[in-house]
This record gives sequence, structure tokens and C-alpha cells, in this order.
Amino acid sequence: MSNHFSTRSYTPRQPLAASADQQLVTQAPLPSQTLLRSAANGSGDALAAQRVHSQPYYRAVADEVDLYEAAYSVRMPMMLKGPTGCGKTRFVEYMAWKLGKPLVTVACNEDMTASDLVGRFLLDANGTRWQDGPLALAARFGAICYLDEVVEARQDTTVVIHPLTDARRVLPLEKKGELLQAHPDFQIVISYNPGYQSLMKDLKQSTKQRFGALDFSYPEHEVEAEIVAHESGVGLDVAKKLVHIGERARNLKGHGLDEGLSTRMLIYAGSLIARGVPTLAACRVALVRPITDDADMRDALDAAVTTYF
Ligand SMILES: Nc1ncnc2c1ncn2[C@@H]1O[C@H](COP(=O)(O)OP(=O)(O)OP(=O)(O)O)[C@@H](O)[C@H]1O
Ligand SMILES: [Mg+2]
Repeated sequence: MSNHFSTRSYTPRQPLAASADQQLVTQAPLPSQTLLRSAANGSGDALAAQRVHSQPYYRAVADEVDLYEAAYSVRMPMMLKGPTGCGKTRFVEYMAWKLGKPLVTVACNEDMTASDLVGRFLLDANGTRWQDGPLALAARFGAICYLDEVVEARQDTTVVIHPLTDARRVLPLEKKGELLQAHPDFQIVISYNPGYQSLMKDLKQSTKQRFGALDFSYPEHEVEAEIVAHESGVGLDVAKKLVHIGERARNLKGHGLDEGLSTRMLIYAGSLIARGVPTLAACRVALVRPITDDADMRDALDAAVTTYF
């Protein structure tokens, strides 16, 4: 199985060893193992491990929370568009928590097959048994299913979501001979970074037109500084300087940089600074070196760093 199935992304300030009931990272335990375990425990909540128990920090940037709630109320499939590290995953985690729904996240990749999403028969000591894939599990038990970077999946894989994302709301489990009717709470959310895909790697119109879409981008200065300060633990003054550097670098996009510095990178830099790493070293490690191999561009970014620190 090549998909990665989890409920939580990395947060710098998050302690590495979370307590059992806070532990939201389910590093690819196979979905139905979770299901079987819960059933065996008699807990009755097949997606217990996928529930977001504590409120994720999410700083609303515009009216995205209200719009998403309205979309969820009519179970509209949603598409989150925006550059890397701008808050899409955090937003879904927050919305799952706010709506009180389990969150099943699948990191899509080009090796992913329809069976990885839908499920397959497995052979074990007792013979064969059906194992729901993450999409089937979410549809069966009423989770929000988040397909991250969906354009990475091949188009023949992506089309399995079609009958779930129109008025039918069904998922045919062909190998099992079951037509799975989605649970009333089920919703599908996909994300992608516009501009990264080639012609070969884009969503078909017939896929796109099944979704409502929310645009995400880096927040405006004050809001981004607030997020960086909150997430990394640096003071607001340092966070503001980091955001200035980020904005400078974003202006170089298309002029030597393929991509601007993300909010995530600014948080990384802030996290190092908050842990006592000298500012210039922290910015080199977390901001400048990862984003470019070009010596001139590196010098230009290093110079931007020294302007502020
Ligand atoms: N509006 C926001 N509120 C709170 N935290 C935010 C916000 N935007 C960004 N962040 C922070 O930035 C980090 C990166 O965001 P996130 O992982 O959600 O990015 P993403 O858009 O999903 O990126 P990718 O496309 O690479 O998956 C988050 O872990 C969080 O700390
Ligand atoms: Mg993400």
C-alpha cells in the first residue's frame, strides 16, 4: 500500500512525544487495522484514531471558516488551492475539529492506485478478508476525507472519487461487489498547489467541476507575523522581521526563485531562533539554503536576512 494515511502535520512547538489521547499522528497503520481494533474493543468508533481531540491553532485569514461551514452543511466537495506551506492542511484539521468530524488524510502520489484508496482483499491466516481503503473507511463511517496533493495521483485513480462527489454519493467497491452509500457526514476535500502541475498532471475538468474551491495564499504581514510568533515561540518583533524576509523572497519568485518562502519555513526559522540558535544561522538553515542552490540567489537572500537582523 503506497498511500500515507495520517491526521496531523508537523508543528514545530508540538512536543515530540504526545500523550496517548493527544496522539493524532497515525503513521500509516492500515485503516482497517484501526477498524478491526476498534471493533474488537467494542468501542464502536471505527475512526476514533482519526478524531481531532484538541483545537488546532488556526488563525482565520478571511471568511474561509464561514464559507467552509456553509459548504459542509450541503456536503459540497471542497478544493483548497494555494502554495506550499500556507495553511491548507492546518485549516482542514481545524475545520474537522470545529465540525466534530474525524479526519482521514491521504497524501497522494503517482504510485497510488484506486485500490489504495478504495480497499482490497488481503490474505491472512483465516483466509481472505476485505480491507477498506481510507476513502471507503471515511465514506462508510462519515469522516472528512482529505486527499492532499491530489494532482500527484494518476487520473485513472482520481476518477474513483467521481461517484462520491456528485449527487449519487456512492463508492462502488467493485472487487467486493458492494455499492457503498456514503454516510451523511462524509465530505471530501482535496488540495493542490496551482502552478506546480504540468499539462500531464492536472485535474480533469470533470473532476474540478465537482468541487467548490477556496483560494489560500500567504497571509498579510501582521497576520502572518502573529502566526509565526504563535507557532514558533519567538516574539512578535522577531516574527515581523522574518515575515519581511519572506516577503522579499516572494518578490523574487519567477526572477530566480521557483517558489517564495512559505509560512512554514518562517516558522522553522523562528523555532530555531526560539531555541537559541543565532539568528543568521537559523535563517540560513531554515530559509535560504533549502530554497535555492544558486550561489548568487543565496547571496541575495543572505543579504536580505542581514538587512533585518
Ligand atoms: N492561518 C494559519 N493559522 C495557523 N497556522 C498557520 C496558518 N497558516 C499557516 N500556518 C502554519 O504554517 C504551517 C504550514 O501550513 P500547512 O502545513 O497547513 O501548509 P499547506 O498549505 O498544507 O502546505 P502543503 O501544500 O505543502 O501541504 C502550519 O503547520 C502552521 O503552523
Ligand atoms: Mg498540506
